[in-house]
Amino acid sequence: MLTNAIKGVKDILPEDVRRWRKVESAARDIFAVYGFSEIRTPIIENTVLFARSIGATSDIVEKEMYAFKDHGGDEITLRPEGTAGVVRAYIEHKLYAKNPVTKLFYAGQMFRRERPQAGRLRQFHQTGAEVLGASEPSVDVEVLAMLSDLFKTLGIKGVELQINSLGCADCRPKYREALKAYLMKRYEQMCPDCQRRIETNPLRALDCKSEHCKAATSYAPAMADYLDDGCRGHFAKVKEGLDDLGIAYAVNPRMVRGLDYYSRTTFEMVAVDKAGAQNAVAAGGRYDGLVEELGGPATPGIGFAIGMERLILMLPDEGEAVSGPALFIAAIGDEAGCLAQKLAHDLRKSGVWVELDYSGASLKSQMKKADRLGSRNVLIIGGDELAKGAAVLRNMQTKEQADVLIEGLADRLIKRLV
Ligand code: HAM
Repeated sequence: MLTNAIKGVKDILPEDVRRWRKVESAARDIFAVYGFSEIRTPIIENTVLFARSIGATSDIVEKEMYAFKDHGGDEITLRPEGTAGVVRAYIEHKLYAKNPVTKLFYAGQMFRRERPQAGRLRQFHQTGAEVLGASEPSVDVEVLAMLSDLFKTLGIKGVELQINSLGCADCRPKYREALKAYLMKRYEQMCPDCQRRIETNPLRALDCKSEHCKAATSYAPAMADYLDDGCRGHFAKVKEGLDDLGIAYAVNPRMVRGLDYYSRTTFEMVAVDKAGAQNAVAAGGRYDGLVEELGGPATPGIGFAIGMERLILMLPDEGEAVSGPALFIAAIGDEAGCLAQKLAHDLRKSGVWVELDYSGASLKSQMKKADRLGSRNVLIIGGDELAKGAAVLRNMQTKEQADVLIEGLADRLIKRLV
């Protein structure tokens, strides 16, 4: 218990962090040229925020939230996603009054109590972006262009952009009713979860993994046939815009998404593995009613979140590119040790990566350590050298070595190593 992290939660070890930083810095660079600013919202929020936004009948709210009563009796939840908190902050700080269109991005831990497996964790990380205040289809295109730029920059292969339209508050209820009537006729064939959801959330039956539900819904009515003129026109313009930018996509009419706040455009970047299983690496969509639902002024919104663990699993392998320290100082004896510490301090202040030996080991074992660390140079300071006011500088690649004067050495090394 003491030495194991809890189930579904992972340490990110130093050797993995390089890949994380690569993705994080590429995302920041790309978000910046699209004009997005970073927002950092709390990891805990009032439980009601998620129930109202993601939907009380969604899987996340029904089964997956880390929700608890704190010592003061407040109902608190560890955020299962980022959009609700961003929208809450947008309303709370009246960001809508500052700019007609607000573009925000965020990155951080999310929490869902799911069954852990590869790429599915209980604490995972999302990097997401949201645009608030613009309903035009060109904004949907821009958000998708930004997401696909990032995937391209990172060299991610084997993903497909799938899009759909879920209609709006006017046309979706008619579709829901039609779907409900269709599913009621097939009630016996469906899994218990979907039987229960026919009343509360019938659209979820369309992406149920059960073979029975897949068969039962194979001829179900499609949202596309129920879109009103506004939604149909909006979706057509999104597709046109993607075509104009040469962004490939597939329309997936069965994509319903697991969160209730969506309207109109929804999308997923789907990775298809060797076994044909589909896995969303990033997902998002439009949520034109959410700001108002949470008590803000009627404001359209659209955004996405990338599942960082899933994306990092897909990064092309670039081999080990970690370089070692610029200098290792091998010091023999106390006096040399003191000098080594001072030199290291001066060099580090100037940005040179220096390593020392702390154990007072033999020269041979210090040289071994320098080698293991991949040091590019070793400075040897021993009793004999010190008496002459000199040290030995060895280039570990060429194996050349030369005597160097200790007087003024820090400055000379800085010039050479920075
Ligand atoms: P979501 O589809 O629930 O959407 O999650 C987005 C992505 O987070 C998923 O595609 C997946 O890559 C990753 N993800 C979700 N759950 C897990 C998990 N248990 N372990 C690892 N990765 C996971 C949202 O969260 C929306 N807030 C996206 C959005 C932003 N829509 C509009 N704006």
